[in-house]
Amino acid sequence: MVYLKQQRPEKVTVPAVRQSKERGEKLVCLTAYDYPTARIVDGAGTDIILVGDSLGNVVLGYDSTVPVTLEEMLHHTRAVRRGVERALLVADMPYGTYHTGPDDAVRAALRLVKEGGAEAVKLEGGRNRVETVRRLVAAEIPVMGHVGLTPQSLNKLGSYRLQAKTADAARALVEDALLLEEAGAFAVVLEVVPREIAREVTAALRVPTIGIGAGPDCDAQILVTHDLLGLSFSKTSPRFVRQYANVRDAINEAIQTYAEDVRTGAFPSDDESYPLPADAAAELGLKRDAGEEEKKTS
Ligand code: KIV
Repeated sequence: MVYLKQQRPEKVTVPAVRQSKERGEKLVCLTAYDYPTARIVDGAGTDIILVGDSLGNVVLGYDSTVPVTLEEMLHHTRAVRRGVERALLVADMPYGTYHTGPDDAVRAALRLVKEGGAEAVKLEGGRNRVETVRRLVAAEIPVMGHVGLTPQSLNKLGSYRLQAKTADAARALVEDALLLEEAGAFAVVLEVVPREIAREVTAALRVPTIGIGAGPDCDAQILVTHDLLGLSFSKTSPRFVRQYANVRDAINEAIQTYAEDVRTGAFPSDDESYPLPADAAAELGLKRDAGEEEKKTS
């Protein structure tokens, strides 16, 4: 799955993700919620693109992922689908779509696959999701697990903080991850857990672990693209976010320059507007602007 700019790399599939662990390849994973971001993230060689329910906080302005609906996930997954060619496209199952049992989970996941174009779904939880994961896998829907900090549990947890930091909680996390693998999950996200525990889980599982705030020893890493780009409005910046660009400042600067140009009349220029053809100007008795050429019609 090595990405070479010169040649078109192979499409990333669920079996390829499983095999990446045997080959010792570190997968690159990012989120996307819309078509242009999906085009850029996919074109840059990302292996797995997640339409995360983080879209609730990042692009819909909610306080958490809890209010995100299935219709919202479908709307954004369809947009991302149109922009992705190579990466494996995974969609998050939003809060409430699988908590009422495997039948509802299968119905919701089928919609994300059939209508949204997702190639796999992700859901949060460990041992309490085993039956649901089994049922989804039996319905030919590949499942990515997600343990550690599970943002959909915010109301139970009270806040987003480091998980699995006691010996009992760490043991339970390793067991949860193993149970998800046994139920058929093809990868497991580990969010905000101590790096030593992420290392243990990674060594224990045959399927890849995908870390976010889980240290360097996971098989893959994921970040929220808007965090990486400096385009996030979240009140806190967790220590695991590395910001690689400041797109928010770049956008701000561009908009301020545009505003200045509009106010001073520097925008638009003659080249950015359309001249009236000479014959029409003559018929209408209108004077054409000095120096106009008819070269530009588009
Ligand atoms: O919703 C999301 O973006 C996620 C990733 C942070 C793993 O679940």
